[in-house]
Amino acid sequence: MTTSIPDISAAIDRLRTGGVVAFPTETVYGLGADAFNQAAVRRVFQLKGRPAINPLIVHVSGPEMATRVVAEWTDDAAALARAFWPGPLTIVLPKADRVPAIVTAGGPTVGVRCPDHPVALALLFGLGSPLVGPSANLSGQISPTDAEHVRQSFRPEDVLVLEGGPCRTGIESTVVSLADRARVLRRGMIAAGEIAAVIGRPVAEPSDVGLATAAPSTGPLPSPGQLPRHYAPRSPARLFDSPDLPALLRDPALAQRGAVVIAYDGPPVTPPHRLIRMPRDPQDYAYQMYAALREADALKPAIILVQRPPRDPGLWEAISDRLRRATSPA
Ligand code: TXA
Ligand code: MG
Repeated sequence: MTTSIPDISAAIDRLRTGGVVAFPTETVYGLGADAFNQAAVRRVFQLKGRPAINPLIVHVSGPEMATRVVAEWTDDAAALARAFWPGPLTIVLPKADRVPAIVTAGGPTVGVRCPDHPVALALLFGLGSPLVGPSANLSGQISPTDAEHVRQSFRPEDVLVLEGGPCRTGIESTVVSLADRARVLRRGMIAAGEIAAVIGRPVAEPSDVGLATAAPSTGPLPSPGQLPRHYAPRSPARLFDSPDLPALLRDPALAQRGAVVIAYDGPPVTPPHRLIRMPRDPQDYAYQMYAALREADALKPAIILVQRPPRDPGLWEAISDRLRRATSPA
């Protein structure tokens, strides 16, 4: 279950020779490679099937290592790191010249984060070098919150998977840009208001307009990774509001394979339909969300029906963001 010291040293050897290692963090598992090794970073893009226009974030052991990948470690960045690192906050700043262009998809900025997980930190301190670390899933698919999820996506000869058990947080880091005005690019456990309180100036929130627009075909994405369809199961999936469920389940098209309903309300669901009951607490919900989507998908239903989360601020907004993308039409 837990990763032993020999595993960590084997992982460090792999990384030193340009290999790829999946590592646990408090949010989701990351697909790690030496950020300064272009060939290794290219391999991460290939293994994930990730479009070259979507930049990778860089994991660091702390502020000292962060100063090696950004052009300038600003006072605001230092204050945010003091408040939230190690933890689920990725800070976007102008990049240092030495960071290979492939890492940032040719863009002028880089995202850095210090993960709050003993295995990830042991790896970073042991290697002494920053690691790129996108979520360890195939591009567009459901993020991995357990080592087993990672092993389902990659062959052992391609990726050494460090075991760390289920991820504590279960939802990817908040991404905040300090490159020009402060703004949240991806919602997460840490809210814009908490960031604003630390840096003492307003922090813009994502507008969500990107959901309606297609991704550009060239150049780095304007709000990278915020593609309309993402975190998505293979089965068709859609959100529902509680009162609409009975009518949805009567659809004759669902009579054979049935629907899987993911809901926190515990509505009545009878065969051939199945219910995955979710907690009402947003932290517990986030912890179980990706595993629930995977479980639903594995049942190969006619459709996955996901109850629309409460319209509450904070973590529920981050959860809603992921679920809207997971259920966005292909
Ligand atoms: O919690 C996390 O952030 C996890 C764990 C493994 O650390 N990592 C993760 O990486 O979620 P990824 O690649 O799946 O998502 C990173 C997000 C993407 O939406 C990407 O487009 C965005 O951050 N991003 C990366 N570099 C950026 C940059 N320079 N400017 C703006 N957005 C950036
Ligand atoms: Mg991802």
